[in-house]
Amino acid sequence: LASSDFIFTNKEHLSPRYIPEVLPCRETHLDKLMKIFARGLSKPEDARMRVVQMIGPVGSGKTCTSIVFGNQAQRSALQNSNELAVSYINLKLHGDSRVILYRRLAQALSPEAHSSSLSADELLEQTILSMRARRRFGLIMLDEVDYFLRRTKDAEIFYDLTRLDEVIQPGSVNPILGVIMMARSTAFRDSLDRAELSTLGRTTITFEAYKKVQIEKILLQRAKDSFRPGAVNDDVIEMISDITSKSPINGDIRYALDLLLFSGEVASAQGRKSVTPDDVRQVMSVSYPSVTSEDVENLTVKGKVTLLSLVRALKMSSKPYVKLSDIAKASKLACEEFGVPPIDNLDEQLDDLSARGIVDVKSLTQIGISGVPAQQLTLFLEALMHRLETVKQR
Ligand SMILES: Nc1ncnc2c1ncn2[C@@H]1O[C@H](COP(=O)(O)OP(=O)(O)OP(=O)(O)O)[C@@H](O)[C@H]1O
Ligand SMILES: [Mg+2]
Repeated sequence: LASSDFIFTNKEHLSPRYIPEVLPCRETHLDKLMKIFARGLSKPEDARMRVVQMIGPVGSGKTCTSIVFGNQAQRSALQNSNELAVSYINLKLHGDSRVILYRRLAQALSPEAHSSSLSADELLEQTILSMRARRRFGLIMLDEVDYFLRRTKDAEIFYDLTRLDEVIQPGSVNPILGVIMMARSTAFRDSLDRAELSTLGRTTITFEAYKKVQIEKILLQRAKDSFRPGAVNDDVIEMISDITSKSPINGDIRYALDLLLFSGEVASAQGRKSVTPDDVRQVMSVSYPSVTSEDVENLTVKGKVTLLSLVRALKMSSKPYVKLSDIAKASKLACEEFGVPPIDNLDEQLDDLSARGIVDVKSLTQIGISGVPAQQLTLFLEALMHRLETVKQR
């Protein structure tokens, strides 16, 4: 280690990937879920399958609430001597095809049924049969449903999964207690036809964007887990919460966590004992609200290099949009720089970035990131790239 750190104890606890056991301000959402699944968890044989939609804006705690609920549900099932398996699938990361999806489902719910030679339909059927034979029950969580539908326009999996109760032989048990679907808005319903819509059910849990006091509460809890006592004062927490609750961030808790982490790193790098509001201001001047570090971490290497090439091309051109050929030039250099193979499907990479809401593709000659000063974004992304590189080497 280079020098002693006066700021952090557990920096990892500020990562948006870290999910605390206790989620302040999401107690009522967890209660609702518990009530919906109460019967399933105690008397699973007699319960009908529940389909729940969890809808809320970016960074409002949908994903972490579903994960924490999954853990609670498993404990509750166990208390009633029922075995519960939870399959959480992020369709943004693993939604390539039905067969890949059902393979993941089988792996989580019934590893015994897993076989690489089965078709999608067979996999689903085998999973159900094998769970039933072992008297094991399951919960399915599908995250980023809206992204998936925008990208694939294929609603078959929702149809398959939400209709399980009907297709299963009358009189025999459906071991799937429920399907929880997460999306940023209800707009995804527009791409479903009537039959698919009717299987979705009406149970919706709404996640409101976090407000200032809620963000403060969450940050205080996270700061206690990750900073030395006294390293972050209340005024810093309040400042970050204030900024995060307002436009253009509108309550995205990831931005708040990023600000807190990066501000801490600034103070730590200077060998100071505490974070100041000035550190926060400095971080803000080089960060861009709508691309969080989690967005970038979730990208493939090709995706990251494509994004970096785009911002570099934007920076060179001093216009808000660049051509695909400009990005191709920048990408050739970037690939050499990072020692990765040349990217041969830049247009697909850009389409994906666009589906993720990071990049704005108007046409092949007009590609940009709407409303972002390219100068600032480059600094932010390069810092981020650098961080990712160092993480990989460790
Ligand atoms: N109530 C909370 N208490 C503590 N940490 C939280 C809370 N809500 C969110 N977080 C933290 O913020 C991270 C991001 O939240 P989460 O992924 O659940 O948001 P989301 O609503 O799923 O956003 P998106 O729509 O972008 O997927 C979580 O992994 C967790 O670390
Ligand atoms: Mg999420």
